[in-house]
Amino acid sequence: MKKIAVLTSGGDAPGMNAAIRAVVRGAISYKLQVMGVFRGYQGLIDDDLHDMTSKSVSNIIHQGGTILKTARCKEFPTKEGRKKAFYNLRKHDIDGLVVIGGNGTFTGAKLLGEEFNFPVIGIPGTIDNDLYGTDFTIGFDTALNTVVDAVDKIRDTATAHNRLFFVEVMGRHAGFLALHSAIASGSEAVFTPEVDGDMERLYDFLRNKFKKAKSSSIVIVAEGTKEGNAITISQKVTEDFPEYDTRVSILGHIQRGGSPSPFDRVLASELGVAAVRALIAGKKAVMMGLESNKLVEVPFDDAIFKKKDLDPRMVGLVGVLSI
Ligand code: F6P
Repeated sequence: MKKIAVLTSGGDAPGMNAAIRAVVRGAISYKLQVMGVFRGYQGLIDDDLHDMTSKSVSNIIHQGGTILKTARCKEFPTKEGRKKAFYNLRKHDIDGLVVIGGNGTFTGAKLLGEEFNFPVIGIPGTIDNDLYGTDFTIGFDTALNTVVDAVDKIRDTATAHNRLFFVEVMGRHAGFLALHSAIASGSEAVFTPEVDGDMERLYDFLRNKFKKAKSSSIVIVAEGTKEGNAITISQKVTEDFPEYDTRVSILGHIQRGGSPSPFDRVLASELGVAAVRALIAGKKAVMMGLESNKLVEVPFDDAIFKKKDLDPRMVGLVGVLSI
């Protein structure tokens, strides 16, 4: 292995820059040349590859977003697109690729690796924390801090007006951000895609607890919940409980930005160097992860297709603590 490339793909996540820095500097430390691919798989197809030096990644560890840019590429899922990408990898004499992203990124990586027998290593970067095989993905902790900070502020105004707030958070089809932010912000109820009966529990809370003990309440709604979204859930509650003064706040892309937390920077640094070491060791088609504080290699097939469940210990906490 003499030369590798690195790219970020899919939705950006805080800490991706720290991961790029770790891959670039890790590669240089092990005497490899390294190129950065701009705009994810689209850049691989368009030959948007550039030499990276230690200096190219100076002063980025604290920055959100990704200096390599990212894209959701429509051409890469086609065989023709992947052929162009592989042609460019060969053209630059690249022997291995590190991809930083989520489920879609690893699906593309798996196909590229299988079709051309090319070594690709994944680093989990998504605020959704929805990748099987790793306890945490890069960006989740920062997004969680952003959500909790926002909810703390919302609670001030909710309490001032005795209001019931529905706060919608990201996560796509997963409820990790919703569940963890609900616990950390002391929210009174939470809706997640994974758990049934959230509406019934909210109604029980509104009938039996809110009136007796609360001057305000926060309900966290994961964007992927089966019950609808924060607006439709709030409308239904307002119809059934007209006595409550309800408001909705959709946090949106604020959750993807900002300087990465120290936790995400450390995770990204560790996984970035581990990805380079894995390529040097001849590994392919695995995602580097952290499980019970141990570095692990997770086959792409597991990371992509196995479902990561919410921790059952966490699921009941919000209800227990909202008395
Ligand atoms: O996967 C990260 C994520 O932020 C999800 O939580 C969200 O559903 C999605 O990306 C939004 O994607 P986009 O920025 O393309 O609208």
